[in-house]
Amino acid sequence: MASPAATTRTVALGDVIDLERYPVDGSDAPRRRALVEYCRAALAFEGACQLPGFLRPGAVEALVAEALEKRDRSHRTDDVHNVYFERIAEADPDDAAGLLEHSSKNAIAWDLIGADSPLRIAYESEALTRFIGDALSMSEFHRYADPFGAASLMLFGPGDELGWHFDRSPFAVTVMLQPPLAGGEYQYHHHLRSESDENPAGVLGALRGTQAGRITLPSEPGTLSMFRGHHSLHRVTPVSGERVRINAVLAYSATPGDKLNGLTQELFYGRRSD
Ligand SMILES: [Fe+2]
Repeated sequence: MASPAATTRTVALGDVIDLERYPVDGSDAPRRRALVEYCRAALAFEGACQLPGFLRPGAVEALVAEALEKRDRSHRTDDVHNVYFERIAEADPDDAAGLLEHSSKNAIAWDLIGADSPLRIAYESEALTRFIGDALSMSEFHRYADPFGAASLMLFGPGDELGWHFDRSPFAVTVMLQPPLAGGEYQYHHHLRSESDENPAGVLGALRGTQAGRITLPSEPGTLSMFRGHHSLHRVTPVSGERVRINAVLAYSATPGDKLNGLTQELFYGRRSD
């Protein structure tokens, strides 16, 4: 029988997140307010907010080890799609919707993440959930209820990438854990389309590399990123070298109890919960 100590959390939030620099728990209320304002301004100005050193180096190291250890239980996806995540019958190099993009990666599902994993400590904390919701200006903000996709670890080996695309969801929250030796860069074009203008010429220019305004984000380990990718075309460039690119993806929703449908679970994690 497990002793009570075995089920008690021994890792505190402050062991995982640098709360002196980023007091998301409200321990320094004026600084938390300033941080929320900073994130909102960065998201409004350039569609992305980067918080380097958000996870402590020890937590980053533990998560890299956990990802590599559980790699053989990850699920691989390898697919082609266009920038709108549609499968197309025939490629057309002169049409923004007709260019084929390639995406491949391995995902370690939420139910495989350890009880004392820094990812679980961070993701399950109310303080972090509230902070990210505030930074994204969401009045209703909840952790994802999906058993696989709530928070997961992504591994990109040599040749893996995320091709150019627009997200269906309004935001994405990630933590960089290990950049590769080369490639694996997060690039985007801020606000390339809008609700009223799909801007196909701009999309085509971005895919051909002729469109101005391409931004490459730094990839320092431990950085928390919030990104609005619904109107900003983005990609992860192909990884090269033997060092795997590893990041964590934290999923949230404006709706409580929200989760993936069985088909999407199957696609990204190779299993379904229904
Ligand atoms: Fe995306």
